[in-house]
Amino acid sequence: WGPDDDDDQQRRGASGPVRVRVPAKVNLHLGVGPLRRDGYHELNTVYHAISIYDELTARRGDTLILTMEGEGTGELALDDTNLAIRAARALAGYAGVPPHVRLHLRKQIPLAGGLAGGSADAAAALVACDALWGTGLSRDELAGIAADLGSDVPFLIHGGTALGTGRGEAVSPVLARPTSWHWVVAIADGGLSTPAAYAELDRLREAGAAGPPLGSTDGLLAALRQRDPRVLAASLGNDLQDAALAMRPSLAGTLKAGEAAGALASIVSGSGPTCVFLAANADDADRIAAELATAGVCRQARTAHGPVPGARIG
Ligand code: C5P
Repeated sequence: WGPDDDDDQQRRGASGPVRVRVPAKVNLHLGVGPLRRDGYHELNTVYHAISIYDELTARRGDTLILTMEGEGTGELALDDTNLAIRAARALAGYAGVPPHVRLHLRKQIPLAGGLAGGSADAAAALVACDALWGTGLSRDELAGIAADLGSDVPFLIHGGTALGTGRGEAVSPVLARPTSWHWVVAIADGGLSTPAAYAELDRLREAGAAGPPLGSTDGLLAALRQRDPRVLAASLGNDLQDAALAMRPSLAGTLKAGEAAGALASIVSGSGPTCVFLAANADDADRIAAELATAGVCRQARTAHGPVPGARIG
């Protein structure tokens, strides 16, 4: 079983099912710049992959089918608007193979929650189909296809902690000494629309009602290097938080409840409504999650750690 066998295996593809696990993301820093002519905002962000996962299984078939179970899947379209289906089609088109695969998704990442659940499924579909079909693309080639599917998709191929620029699709890893951070994730009832959150931020800014923009990621990157959760806590920031709070005022109570329970920092994840809390250690995270679960400020509170790898087979 040498390198040549490996190459052969890649060309042939896998005969059996390919299972891929893909994490959720939070933004430790989400600096939103001006609206561009293409309808996107320029971002300065630090992505961080956390240990809440969707699992996608790809099997050989003679057509393209997606089935699902788990978190909120009754509301998800199973047609060509679904990002996992679009990802499979995009890869097939790029590699010149028929888009034949049976995909089954087990969802734990909430829908429209600000944790990039849809983007995660697209990243998982790219990695799974690449292995099943034996198309053998490099991670960079996959990330190129990923960028066309959504701004967060390239990051979910890579995982870890990474800097995102452009509209978020240009990703470079943040090299830090290995540290595991402990988080509590408060999942809300119902989702928030990402385009609506960006539009609300534009509206608040025009009305002079938004906080000053976060700008550069330098402070956050320096904080990550110090490996002290209290230092990291002081550097977390999200320009979309004002917009999420304007759209869902009850989130202010969720954020406060986390701090009252001993979180070092509380922040809205991406465009919300999921809130994330930084804990000093794993025990504190367990305790904060238990308190949030009984406080009636969220549908579900879970602990997670990060960084974790992106979409991976196994
Ligand atoms: O890239 P993605 O399809 O996930 O983006 C969804 C929507 O979020 C975009 O259509 C846009 O309205 C908004 N968005 C933005 N600026 C970004 C990323 C997303 O305005 N950098």
